[in-house]
Amino acid sequence: MKKILVRVLGAIGALVLLAVVGVVVKFYVLSPKSRAAQAVTAPSTPEAIARGKYLVNNVAACIGCHSPVQEDKPGDPPVEGKIAAGRDFGDWGPEVPFRLRAPNLTPDKETGIGAMTDGEVLRAMREGIGRDGRALFPQMPYLTYAKTLNDDDALAIVAYLRTLPPIKNDPGRTEIKFPVSMFIRGVPQPLDAPPPPSPAPTEKLARGKWLLDVCSCHDCHDSVDSHMQKLPGKALAGGMKFPLANGKGVAVAPNITSDKATGIGAYSDDDLRRVFDEGKGKSGRFLYVMPWSYYGAMTKDDKEALIAALRLAAPVGNAVAPSEIK
Ligand code: HEC
Ligand code: HEC
Repeated sequence: MKKILVRVLGAIGALVLLAVVGVVVKFYVLSPKSRAAQAVTAPSTPEAIARGKYLVNNVAACIGCHSPVQEDKPGDPPVEGKIAAGRDFGDWGPEVPFRLRAPNLTPDKETGIGAMTDGEVLRAMREGIGRDGRALFPQMPYLTYAKTLNDDDALAIVAYLRTLPPIKNDPGRTEIKFPVSMFIRGVPQPLDAPPPPSPAPTEKLARGKWLLDVCSCHDCHDSVDSHMQKLPGKALAGGMKFPLANGKGVAVAPNITSDKATGIGAYSDDDLRRVFDEGKGKSGRFLYVMPWSYYGAMTKDDKEALIAALRLAAPVGNAVAPSEIK
């Protein structure tokens, strides 16, 4: 009897050991999956720089995450003189196992991307590998950019970033608690094929769908649980909470699916235009956290395409408590 027990326990012990070794190998030896940065050079033509400027400031809104912003002002405008100089997102409370810091994207050699090659910036943007080879936290939307930014768009972005005035500023390093820090290592993926070109403004619906992705609308408007995990079947159904700086209250991302009762199904196109043109919700109040101050300068065609695509988001009934702004 005793012998059998010892053997069984031994077998279980061996299995546990094997599982632990498996996990260590998967996440610490085989991850993060990465390849050498490509030997590419960003163009320096005025056209490429202008295209990158539009994508960085008004579409992907990289600036909104990579600059210190005035969180107590509607639209999250960047702090003057600190554009693209990096952002510390601060402490989101004990339930959230990470503190994010988006690095400085200005060409400063020590604290910015000045010492990174164009290929390294490209790899960080779409394959999630930072300058030091580490896996980037996927709040940096590299999984989205891997599908939406082809080489021309991505290199135009690098071209524009290289023209920004260099600012010396180090927002510090992202901190992630175990085991989240381990799982994050499994997220990056090298690109196996370059993403398709972005749809032209004349292809209205395809362009609108692309904008809905590349603008990261999902990252704030999808419903999540208390650990920030997305809930299945609740795309764009709202509910994510954003505490505002200086005790100004809490902004809650609304349901922006086409559900008539709880979403934007009953909004007119003008109601939606006002969000992007003036930064005001249907109630007429200025919107906080929602990056309208960036999207606002999109071309009219792009805003119309975005609204048309938003109208097609499958309706999800989900009543969200309103924001409480003081
Ligand atoms: C939703 C917020 C958000 C948006 C939008 C965003 N980023 Fe980031 N980015 C981050 C965060 C946070 C990190 C750091 C992640 C970490 O430390 O693990 C990061 C990391 C990076 C890095 C890595 C730099 C290094 O030091 O290795 C680059 C490059 C970068 N982002 C470029 C961009 C560009 C270009 C865009 C727009 C096309 C963009 N990001 C949009 C949040 C964002
Ligand atoms: C950084 C997070 C964030 C991102 C990214 C974001 N939103 Fe929002 N959005 C919010 C929050 C929070 C509110 C509510 C703000 C308030 O109540 O003051 C909001 C409000 C809105 C409203 C207003 C609804 C009303 O009350 O009238 C619409 C429409 C909307 N967002 C659509 C979008 C679309 C489309 C995108 C992508 C192009 C997007 N949002 C990207 C956070 C975000």
